[in-house]
Amino acid sequence: MNIGIIGAGKIGATAAQLFIQAGHRVALSNSRGPESLHALIEQLGAQAQAMTIDDAATFGDVVLIAIPLGQFKSLPAAALAGKIVIDANNYYPGRDGRIPELEQGNLTSSELLQQHLQHSRVVKGFNTIWYEHLRTQGNTTLPHADRRAIFIAGDDAAAKATITNLIEQIGFAAVDTGSLRESARQQPDAPIYNQVLTAAQAAAMGYGV
Ligand SMILES: NC(=O)c1ccc[n+]([C@@H]2O[C@H](COP(=O)([O-])OP(=O)(O)OC[C@H]3O[C@@H](n4cnc5c(N)ncnc54)[C@H](OP(=O)(O)O)[C@@H]3O)[C@@H](O)[C@H]2O)c1
Repeated sequence: MNIGIIGAGKIGATAAQLFIQAGHRVALSNSRGPESLHALIEQLGAQAQAMTIDDAATFGDVVLIAIPLGQFKSLPAAALAGKIVIDANNYYPGRDGRIPELEQGNLTSSELLQQHLQHSRVVKGFNTIWYEHLRTQGNTTLPHADRRAIFIAGDDAAAKATITNLIEQIGFAAVDTGSLRESARQQPDAPIYNQVLTAAQAAAMGYGV
């Protein structure tokens, strides 16, 4: 699969490495442009390329977005139309500025992103796991129940199935929290946020059952 990545920082670069190890091709992009990504691309090897944001969006069958949420309006909706978009972002008002729709509690941050990317299929994922744990805790030899959980949510069942498969390929267990509305269950104030939980432990907490 071709995977575009918008945001080549801690989460974007870590996920890129895991996707490449699983046999995928990745195109990384950031706000400063492809020239700033030379060292990272060297490190990731031949299956990685640096691109502009628009080109990385066009390249991906799946596009991972891992940027400060406050920047979401700059994402190219046209280039992302029709794509499965993984939303790894979290809302931190201190970093992102206060976003009125989120402050009022009417929307989850992924619903807000879906509103901006009207023609994309947004799946929330990778937002609850610290990047160092993402780098080190995947284990493809473990049975599903014993793997570290990566929580996902979305309104498109086929898109969720694709991301579930990708998560399983890199050694984690995808645990479904429901729709984009229900992705509140995996936002920063949720009980599972940033917790080291296996799929079995998540199920005992009422997740993914
Ligand atoms: N760190 C974690 O362990 C972790 C875990 C789960 C989820 N998250 C969430 O994932 C997102 C990214 O976090 P991070 O820790 O990976 O951040 P980070 O290390 O600071 O990296 C952010 C990346 O986003 C890029 N970027 C910033 N504004 C952009 C824009 N408008 N368009 C395209 N790229 C842009 C930056 O590019 P430049 O450097 O060129 O500006 C940088 O490559 C956040 O929403 C965070 O809450 C983080």
